[in-house]
Amino acid sequence: MSKSFEIAVIVGSLRKESINRKVANALTELAPDSLSFREVEIGSLPFYNPDLDGDDAPKEWSEFRECMKSVDGVLFVTPEYNRSVPAALKNALDVGSRPAGESVWDGKPAGVVSGSLGGIGGFGANHHLRQSLVFLNMPAMQQPEAYIGSFGDLFDEQGVLTNDGTRDFLKKFASAFADWVALHAKG
Ligand code: FNR
Repeated sequence: MSKSFEIAVIVGSLRKESINRKVANALTELAPDSLSFREVEIGSLPFYNPDLDGDDAPKEWSEFRECMKSVDGVLFVTPEYNRSVPAALKNALDVGSRPAGESVWDGKPAGVVSGSLGGIGGFGANHHLRQSLVFLNMPAMQQPEAYIGSFGDLFDEQGVLTNDGTRDFLKKFASAFADWVALHAKG
């Protein structure tokens, strides 16, 4: 039996009806069986403040760090806010990166997907995120790149992906990501 890997899905949008979450759900459904997924919630993480860190760190930070330490890889699916990543996502990266020397991200393989109502597909957010991942020492899959543009029309009212071209693309992306995780996961 081939090895299986647990992947944390981090959605950059906190919105209940987030289209990026629909993209993430479609990706997890299309992915090979070697990957299992769990969405890790980032909306309740207090803003990172070094003064609050240490033995009495907020329990949301400790729980998030424990959870992220236990996974083999991370799939980021994010909107673009003002040509960058939403603050909630950047905050999650910062929380997970500390205390210094104990980063939960170190060496974990990552996939990056950005989605937007606009035609550029969140390119700016995608690449700002990649800039942080370089410093966090996360091997981020380079190809295929995933900029899901004009995504308002891709799903029906039940959140089901109805666009065949996007489904084919997401399937290819998920398959490449499974290979990437198998190559880079530490466990
Ligand atoms: C946006 N949006 C947006 N879109 C884009 O393509 N480039 C951008 O820079 C921005 N900036 C931006 C800032 C803020 C504060 C908001 C709330 C929105 C629009 C964005 O793509 C759209 O709201 C998506 O639907 C957000 O993704 P979710 O929440 O549906 O996953």
